Amino acid sequence: MAQKTPGGSPGRLTRRALSVLTAGVLAAAGVVSLAGTAEATGALGDAAAAKGRYFGAAVAANHLGEAPYASTLNAQFGSVTPENEMKWDALESSRGSFNFSAADRIVDHARGQGMKVRGHTLVWHSQLPGWVSGLAATDLRAAMNNHITQVMTHYKGEIDSWDVVNEAFQDGGSGARRSSPFQDKLGNGFIEEAFRTARAVDPGAKLCYNDYNTDGQNAKSNAVYAMVKDFKQRGVPIDCVGFQSHFNSNSPVPSDYRANLQRFADLGVDVQITELDIEGSGSAQAADYTTVVNACLAVSRCTGITVWGVTDKYSWRSGGTPLLFDGDYNKKPAYGAVLAALGGSDGGGDGGGTGACTATYTQTATWNGGYNGQVTVKAGSAGITTWSVPVTVPSPQKVSALWNGAPAWDAGGTVMTVKPTYNGTLAAGASTSFGFTVTSNGSTAAPVVGACTAS
Ligand code: XIL
Repeated sequence: MAQKTPGGSPGRLTRRALSVLTAGVLAAAGVVSLAGTAEATGALGDAAAAKGRYFGAAVAANHLGEAPYASTLNAQFGSVTPENEMKWDALESSRGSFNFSAADRIVDHARGQGMKVRGHTLVWHSQLPGWVSGLAATDLRAAMNNHITQVMTHYKGEIDSWDVVNEAFQDGGSGARRSSPFQDKLGNGFIEEAFRTARAVDPGAKLCYNDYNTDGQNAKSNAVYAMVKDFKQRGVPIDCVGFQSHFNSNSPVPSDYRANLQRFADLGVDVQITELDIEGSGSAQAADYTTVVNACLAVSRCTGITVWGVTDKYSWRSGGTPLLFDGDYNKKPAYGAVLAALGGSDGGGDGGGTGACTATYTQTATWNGGYNGQVTVKAGSAGITTWSVPVTVPSPQKVSALWNGAPAWDAGGTVMTVKPTYNGTLAAGASTSFGFTVTSNGSTAAPVVGACTAS
């Protein structure tokens, strides 16, 4: 059903536009009331969003039907990356015949949950069908550009960032390009060509170069750095660099991880941690996760983190138990470490809450010139009689209204400490919320919601 040949089907956007139109007509007729635009992105996603970042997971379409898999994904993550479903062999296994069904299932699920989607990946030497490798140069160039065009057109407007080219550099000290059909037949210029084609197809998507063993400063990352610098100087469209960050004892988190992210950011691109997993267990694994999250938070252009799977049992390196949830979907110490590093706290349940209350931020509406924010305050395992939550509203944004809470402003007028008006008393596990309207004055930055304190 999702089979599509080039130039044939109108793609997904038309479908969405129709359903929005239908909802609008029904609402105008008073038939339904539209739900708000609140997006619940989940505990890790919300904590990261309060820091202006996303926190996502790689997902596989064939696990979405497993209830604890879907509920863990929905409760925790604010972004998804299809683990294999958008690779060339999955989408165009024979020339010109596209099958988007598995990738569509993931994108539909994510959009239904208000999650962002990373597109992975358009041009890569691996998981590449044999017919591509067999083409001669002219044909290969046409096939590459057609693949990018068809795939990005299908998902136009739905993908936050695309990994346009994946893993084009060799490991080791040479700094050379990796041999691949694209490199060998088209030369270095294939990367630039892929990015230019991608920009023309979906100018709204961020375009990333993605690689591994580039997480610290070394010959390979130096070569990628030189390429990105050259692209920025010559105006080749590139917006972001992805650092896969697959770590284990042979390939530990580099000591210059943060510095390496920063030097790329200083070239004028965003940086993203795209495939994080760290083999190990217990507090050592938790400490490494903390290091990685803190490095991203310390680099203002580090826009988000994706872990390469939801649960250890489906990890591509399951023997190394590298993820945040074990095979039974229990939170591991690494989960608590990530949540704490993101400034969130576990509101009880199986993780065991530490704070007496938690504060979770959601943007509930947005329009040209402003937005509404909502903070849900939830009591921990004991009842509370009052609470207090600091909210930093980045300058030049201004708060124009606040409800269900009373603000005390700092001298600089950017931090409002919100206390309850009538809604201070909460039983154990109960919650309330306050909301506010912000005039953006040109800034799209998210407010930073600090830790809730209670008594
Ligand atoms: C891996 C998937 O996790 C596996 O399921 C698949 O068998 C092979 O690919 N770098 C990447 C990812 O960019 O696409 C890879 O994903 C892991 C390494």
